Amino acid sequence: MNGKTVLITGGTGGIGRAAAVGVASMGAHVGITGRDRTRAEQAAAAIADESGSPAVDVFVADMSSQAEVRRLADEVLTTYPQLDVLINNVGGFWAHRHLTSDGLEHTFALNHLAPFLLTNLLLERLVSSAPSRVVTVSSGAQSLGRIDFDDLMGEQDYSGQRAYNQSKLANVMFTYEVARRLEGTGVTATALHPGMTNTAFSAEDPSRSMAPIVFAARPFMKSPKRGADTAVYLASSPAVEGVTGRYFANRKTKKSHDSSYDANTTGRLWQVSADLVGLPANAYG
Ligand SMILES: NC(=O)c1ccc[n+]([C@@H]2O[C@H](COP(=O)([O-])OP(=O)(O)OC[C@H]3O[C@@H](n4cnc5c(N)ncnc54)[C@H](OP(=O)(O)O)[C@@H]3O)[C@@H](O)[C@H]2O)c1
Repeated sequence: MNGKTVLITGGTGGIGRAAAVGVASMGAHVGITGRDRTRAEQAAAAIADESGSPAVDVFVADMSSQAEVRRLADEVLTTYPQLDVLINNVGGFWAHRHLTSDGLEHTFALNHLAPFLLTNLLLERLVSSAPSRVVTVSSGAQSLGRIDFDDLMGEQDYSGQRAYNQSKLANVMFTYEVARRLEGTGVTATALHPGMTNTAFSAEDPSRSMAPIVFAARPFMKSPKRGADTAVYLASSPAVEGVTGRYFANRKTKKSHDSSYDANTTGRLWQVSADLVGLPANAYG
């Protein structure tokens, strides 16, 4: 990864931080994002220390806000004339419905619309840096998901688990659709399930409804390093050079939800997402 630049969203903890250590240890120049500058700078210093690479940059943005995602993209474009890998990792779970500053349901906005918008805003740079890669951290929960086009934001009926499953299926559909749109550009797009991993996942949910499950499952969970392994593999391995439009778990391709292979559905999700973030839907496509 010498000479490569990798941007990882949510690199201050959990899977993102471990992925940052993984690619930095291979020589990559790494940028991480987080919401709080002090926390992000502390994480960058620790990543540099653990990886032995001094090249770790910090970007600060609350990715639930589209204005912040746009500012983040501008800053990344100014800082990195070349971007070889984007790892879309930020995500979370909330048992109760609440809205972002843009008035959108938080889970859908943060888990799906934020990586959708960020990737689109960085696409030209990824294309000019090709061969390059977009790696999106989804979840096995995608297999239980359904894109409810009539109630994407859970206004009529909200369940935290359903919202999470939907957002993680949206990660996979986004990956397949962007892979199709970028065919021939040298930019690949893959998605992955990291496996149940011992992180701070869902700790921000005020109801702490996942806490008992997390507590019970903790002894069986992967370490963050193991949870980040497939993301690091997809970001760096020559074995997946040119591999695009695929979903992985444990470094192996895996079948995703049947609906994710329906180009009409992925195209429709792309169109709706583009409308919600104010982008033209026909970009690359
Ligand atoms: N852990 C698991 O078992 C598991 C299983 C399947 C899939 N996943 C997926 O893996 C990804 C990473 O999860 P994790 O377990 O590593 O979670 P985590 O420990 O909670 O880490 C989340 C990261 O995202 C950042 N973040 C959270 N909200 C943000 C926001 N609004 N704006 C910007 N950054 C934000 C946090 O940074 P700051 O707090 O510093 O801002 C942190 O760096 C998620 O997409 C999740 O869905 C996890």
